[in-house]
Amino acid sequence: MLGIIGAMTEEVLHLKEAMEDVEIRTIATMDFYQGRLKGLDVVVVRSGIGKVNAAICTQILIDQYNVRRIINTGIAGSLRSSIDIGDIVLSRDAMQHDMDATGFGYKVGQIPQMEESVFKGDRNMIYMADMCCRKVIPQVGVHVGRIVSGDQFVSDQAKKAWIVKNFQACCTEMEGASIAQTAYLNNIPFLIVRAISDKADDSAEMDYAEFERMAIDNSVKLIMAMAEELVGFDR
Ligand code: ADE
Repeated sequence: MLGIIGAMTEEVLHLKEAMEDVEIRTIATMDFYQGRLKGLDVVVVRSGIGKVNAAICTQILIDQYNVRRIINTGIAGSLRSSIDIGDIVLSRDAMQHDMDATGFGYKVGQIPQMEESVFKGDRNMIYMADMCCRKVIPQVGVHVGRIVSGDQFVSDQAKKAWIVKNFQACCTEMEGASIAQTAYLNNIPFLIVRAISDKADDSAEMDYAEFERMAIDNSVKLIMAMAEELVGFDR
């Protein structure tokens, strides 16, 4: 069983529409759509926005649905000039940019009293996603790198510069690292797939409105192709 998490309604709408034999269960106000996508057993769910919602959602997928892999799909703000609106970023690893215990001598992003603060995406899933991108969205740039998350929509040049300086990340969003952390704690492989909707700077809000649709379309195409590819692997 593959768990697919999107934070917003728009991010999972097309996936839900493409599913067959759907059973819906509501847990913690989240609607879990269990069924088949391109022949693959999946659970698709809208977690709601932010790290707390996403972490709770991930733990439910693991406890109630026994998922063997998790994909988080959605959009993100680019942190590099070489990563354009519409491009796809795959998580080599994920960190929380708003975790700050520097007052106790920890590094920015380091989670106190935990062995790991940098959560690695599954290498096989990265490889498969990269391959699927080339197949179904060949015109789109694909990047493998760090994705950072925080409970903030980054739309400010100074904040962006701070994140860039401290994290060497490709893009910023609001859920991925908490999904990654939950998956890590449960020893479940995960991948974050993010399509770039804006540049996380002063033009972010305007760009976001204009490019959200296109970015979501790109990530949906990729997830569908991955589901097709994963049939057989997951039974
Ligand atoms: N999701 C899409 N764009 C974002 C941004 N700039 N900051 C946080 N989350 C985002």
